[in-house]
Amino acid sequence: MNTGSLLAADLVIAVLAAAGWLGAGTASAARRRPLALGLAAVALLATFARAITITALARAGWWFAAEKALIAAPLSLAGTLVAGTRLLRIPGDIRSTAVPLLFAGYAGLGALLVTLLHGYPASAGVGLLAVAGILAATVASWRVLGTRPSPMVSRAVAVVAVAALVTGTGLAAPGSAPVMPHDHGYRDARTVGEPTRRFTLTAGTATVRVSGRDVAAWAFNEQVPGPELTATVGDVLEVTLRNRDIARGVTLHWHGYDVPNSQDGVPGVTQAAVLPGQEFVYRFRADQAGTYWYHTHAVSDVGVQKGLYGVLVVRPVPVTGVDVTVPVHTLAGQTLPTPRVEPVGVGEPVRLRLINTDSTTHRYALAGTAFRVVAIDGYDLQGPTPVVDTAVLIPAGGRYDLVFTAPATPVALFVDGRAVYSTGPVSAATDRWPVLDPLGYGVGAPVPWSRFDRDFTLVLDRGLDLRGLLPRYGHTVNGATDPDIPPQVVRLGDIVRFTIVNRSMVVHPWHLHGHHVLVLSRNRTSVTGSPLWLDSFDVRPGDVWEVAFRADNPGMWANHCHNLAHVDAGMTLHLMYS
Ligand code: C2O
Ligand code: CU
Repeated sequence: MNTGSLLAADLVIAVLAAAGWLGAGTASAARRRPLALGLAAVALLATFARAITITALARAGWWFAAEKALIAAPLSLAGTLVAGTRLLRIPGDIRSTAVPLLFAGYAGLGALLVTLLHGYPASAGVGLLAVAGILAATVASWRVLGTRPSPMVSRAVAVVAVAALVTGTGLAAPGSAPVMPHDHGYRDARTVGEPTRRFTLTAGTATVRVSGRDVAAWAFNEQVPGPELTATVGDVLEVTLRNRDIARGVTLHWHGYDVPNSQDGVPGVTQAAVLPGQEFVYRFRADQAGTYWYHTHAVSDVGVQKGLYGVLVVRPVPVTGVDVTVPVHTLAGQTLPTPRVEPVGVGEPVRLRLINTDSTTHRYALAGTAFRVVAIDGYDLQGPTPVVDTAVLIPAGGRYDLVFTAPATPVALFVDGRAVYSTGPVSAATDRWPVLDPLGYGVGAPVPWSRFDRDFTLVLDRGLDLRGLLPRYGHTVNGATDPDIPPQVVRLGDIVRFTIVNRSMVVHPWHLHGHHVLVLSRNRTSVTGSPLWLDSFDVRPGDVWEVAFRADNPGMWANHCHNLAHVDAGMTLHLMYS
């Protein structure tokens, strides 16, 4: 069983145990003896099974098990002991076991809430709050059922509950939020030389036509996607961004293009959002060839989805052969681009630049030919071998470049089972194809660093966010949401290692601005294929990724999940240079 399913199994078992004890307690309060005993047996079995899942999770990595081992296990143990010893004294009146059984249920429920609302890292404060809640519920049950124990016992319980509440609140109260230095003297664009490629992008509300339907969108130059920006290595790009009527502001972020910080387009960090009637000029040198994209970074979860994105392709030299970009996007429930059929001469080299501009993973399958994956996230792979009848999974924000030589028979590219690009009619059932694992594809090379100057661990989870007016269920990094996640501070020249751990039940496509990271390992297995320099990678439930990079691009950089709704729910932090 992989760690993701182990996390899910553990959760189901924990729910079963808590529900079992609570059900048993309720049944015994109602004097339904067989039901009470049956449910207690289920709860007991589930509690034992949990010992196994918690141990297995701890072996997969302490991040997955910390609060389960330190808080849930002792609480369940206490609950089981209290309920078990009471049951063993074969009671004449089953009702006398009700409160002990309910106590075990409250203990299980309390532990479950610690995992669901708080998670990693385990904290004494949260543990004490759980204890206070469990005891309070137990006292209330005594009252309701009129089965008070001796005054000494009930007084002792009350005192412990109050003490746990007071200490727990003190310990769990959030410390002061880290202060983000605000360098509002946004550095001017570096002198990068005279522009050789100029573009103007005007953002505005627009009505666009998608598969015969009018859709209300936000668009650059009234089209979705925005204009395709192309350049040749060495060009200096100058892109003027204007905002016509997007009230919440726009910016341009060059996704995967490691531009100087002042050009990175993150509102409130590298520039102010461009409001209606305003403009901002971006200028940078196109030093790196490859497939990239641009998108607004102001209220990005809404803006990108509504259409404020486009393709950026930098080519090494004038290209020969067919070179096609396929940016896949979901706009108002419709998939873009609209399918296109384009005959290609036999023997012609074809390059397909696949881009996922959505917030979730897409599955791409090229049918009718063998092909090679020659680049991922704009960086060439080493020694890519031909593969056939194999799918690729592209994370949110990611890009794969596929090449092949056009055969005499037609070829088609399917995205999630639907043909979006073809050279003629192809029928193929691609959904059973194996998926290419880029970590084992191509020819390996040793990692260029043997020591790391900085080590950061990012544990991704869900948790209660009490910062705003209303509490909400956020997406957390190390138990906190933006802006309470401390920034990662590095020095110019440092070799930095990130360990990224996903404790949650959903995929988090991770994206660091300003740098490509070299993948070291996933789930303790080192990369065996070509070096992978990525800017977007899917950290699936239960995954542990180790990646590293050289801190060579000074500034303040966003470091976030590229499921943009998760960013809105707090999953973003910053990397900054001291
Ligand atoms: Cu493509 Cu900060 O994002
Ligand atoms: Cu996410």
